[in-house]
Amino acid sequence: MKSFIKLIFTLFLSINMLFVKADEGMWLPMLLGEATYKNMVECGIRLTPEQIYNANNSSLKDAIVALGGGFCTGEIISDQGLLMTNHHCGFGTIQANSTTEHDYLTDGFWAMTKEQEIPADFGVWFLNNISDVTDKVLKGLKDNMSEQQRDSLIRSNSNALKKSAKEGRNKEDFAVQVKSFYYGNLYYMFTYDIYNDVRLVGAPPSSIGKFGGDTDNWMWPRHTGDFTMFRVYADKENNPSSYNENNQPLKPKHSLPVSIAGVKDGDYAMIMGYPGSTNRFLTSWGVKEAVEIEQPARVKIRRVKLDIMDEQMSKSQKVRIQYASKYARVSNYWKYFIGQSEQLVNNKVADKKQNIESSFTAWYQKNKLEKEYGQALNLIQNATESSSKYIIPKVYFQEAVVGSELILFMYRNLGPRTPLYNALKTGEGVSKAKEALLQKAESYFKDYNATIDENTLASILSLYANDVSKEFQPELLISLNEKYKGNFKKFASNYFSKTPFKSYKLFKEWINNDKLSTKAIEKDVVFQLMNQFLAVYRTKVMLPKSSFDSDYNKGMRLFVDALQKMGMNKASDANSTMRFTYGNVLPYDPADAVHYDFFTTLEGVMQKEVLTDDKNHEFYVPQKLKDLYEAKDYGPYARKEDGKLPVGFLSNNDITGGNSGSPVINAYGELIGTAFDGNWEAMSGDIYFEPNIQRTISVDIRYALFIIDKYAGAKHLIDEMNVVSERHIEEKSSKDEKQDMPEAVPSMR
Ligand code: ARG
Repeated sequence: MKSFIKLIFTLFLSINMLFVKADEGMWLPMLLGEATYKNMVECGIRLTPEQIYNANNSSLKDAIVALGGGFCTGEIISDQGLLMTNHHCGFGTIQANSTTEHDYLTDGFWAMTKEQEIPADFGVWFLNNISDVTDKVLKGLKDNMSEQQRDSLIRSNSNALKKSAKEGRNKEDFAVQVKSFYYGNLYYMFTYDIYNDVRLVGAPPSSIGKFGGDTDNWMWPRHTGDFTMFRVYADKENNPSSYNENNQPLKPKHSLPVSIAGVKDGDYAMIMGYPGSTNRFLTSWGVKEAVEIEQPARVKIRRVKLDIMDEQMSKSQKVRIQYASKYARVSNYWKYFIGQSEQLVNNKVADKKQNIESSFTAWYQKNKLEKEYGQALNLIQNATESSSKYIIPKVYFQEAVVGSELILFMYRNLGPRTPLYNALKTGEGVSKAKEALLQKAESYFKDYNATIDENTLASILSLYANDVSKEFQPELLISLNEKYKGNFKKFASNYFSKTPFKSYKLFKEWINNDKLSTKAIEKDVVFQLMNQFLAVYRTKVMLPKSSFDSDYNKGMRLFVDALQKMGMNKASDANSTMRFTYGNVLPYDPADAVHYDFFTTLEGVMQKEVLTDDKNHEFYVPQKLKDLYEAKDYGPYARKEDGKLPVGFLSNNDITGGNSGSPVINAYGELIGTAFDGNWEAMSGDIYFEPNIQRTISVDIRYALFIIDKYAGAKHLIDEMNVVSERHIEEKSSKDEKQDMPEAVPSMR
């Protein structure tokens, strides 16, 4: 009987575990508490907390970097500084180095020796130290302070902390951040070493690295080989250095072993990386605003911009290369916003938020905490609703106005406070400023097409004039609208027929004219428009909008603090700081009667293939890949189960933009995949995590290695890695044993 009760109890616990298992949560690595670690052990981890994060000795965290401070994540996979990330993260570098003669986008790029590697234009950030500075940041705070006083005290305390941490350090290769967590309830300080000499090592052709294109983006089943490799260089002492021929490959504190032993349903999977931002505490009013106002506006403007680029890109190979990266950037979040609005509705997120808000109200009433928390939701609701009229002008400025390359170029290079403007104003350093700007202009015009820019200018002006209420329209826009009777195409074509800002040659003549003055710049009508747009944005949009921020922030701080106290123990929203998320390799059911397996194979690539000569078609399959498929020449990278070549897999990890390129790590600290996307059914996930259907999509590392080895013939790169080809002994035995606390894994360096 006793054992029967024990059995029931054990069953209950293990069923329960399925549901309590933390799949939601982007956790701060140094806060790896006992409860979280226990959950990780239940999921199957065999590493100790110190092997994951250790401030003093090398640990997993030392192999993880933020690219350019956080646009993507990368992981070190050899003791020579080899770095793995996504193809879409390396896309900018691949694009910038492509020409019609050397089209690395279409053909891929493989450095067969270190000399052939190509310098990239971003650095990688290694996390150095994290410390809790909440007391120091909140020092001097008084209950009766206004939100503004509070903000400015927090800002000056943070700045003082940063200043002292930076003392004696070089700002090129050392960074300090103080960041707020849980809406100002906690503060942490982060320091980073920045290595700025990073070089492109290998990238598959887009027909592999971007296979499926926009059609498959944000979706499963997926067959994209979304990986690219770089190498990090250091000076002779292994210290950070800007690009220098004599630099040496970095000797990292830690590099991830690479496992080609395969992934199975239920395997432990952990991701460490730099998620950019989530809005998991957004209230029902915020959800409504996103669905009804903000996201549709973003989608509409982005579609217009994409169609304009598309038209020219399809006509010319040169333009296609020039705009590949700009296009991908706009289209990725164009589709994201469509999916997010759609799934916020499908997944009934507003209702779920209302339930949380009701529990919150019931909680503070029950505990007689009206005085502390009673105003929170009102503050949030009022601030959200009263500031909603600023959403459209804000979005139209950010997406449409700044979406004009011409306007952005003027803002960055000719506007007040730019070096050239100042030099012309004071008469000092003019030729130096001109020279510096000419250099910038040269790379700007390398990837510039005047027809696209002209059509964009016409479209964004007419979008703004038609969709944004008059009170937020610059006077000049109103008068141009009248003068041209709404025909901004005519305006743009008149302007572009005369402007010097449409080619490097004309720009050079313009800037080298001795009579160039600030007056001449100010006479330009688009320059005037730019200034007026900026003034409206600052004074009529963001300033009045910010008067609601303090109410909003205060309400959120209280609301989020209470949720923690209520035991709704969520991780803090992503904010481009290092996080880890743990869970398991897992399939899902997207709809009634529909089951999605957790992995894809090369069979699926062949099924999706569209026969065409257009190597840039989303579903073009290169001949070499087809040959390898026909010959089943998969080397050691095939699935042991059925001999097929694995391509992608799913896990229930919690990631978002910025995590792209993050390592998927098994129970033993080995790399099994590189994360690159989320799935369509859970596109609302940045606002509300959906445990049953939310998945991370990753490239199986075996597919990446197969492409490097068999497709590209770059076996020397694999030889650099520490490749593990067998599953660990415990992995092969029963799953239940996973629940014991593990011994440290000896192979960890
Ligand atoms: N959705 C992916 C992300 O945001 C990017 C995928 C890039 N692929 C593409 N077809 N644009 O991380």
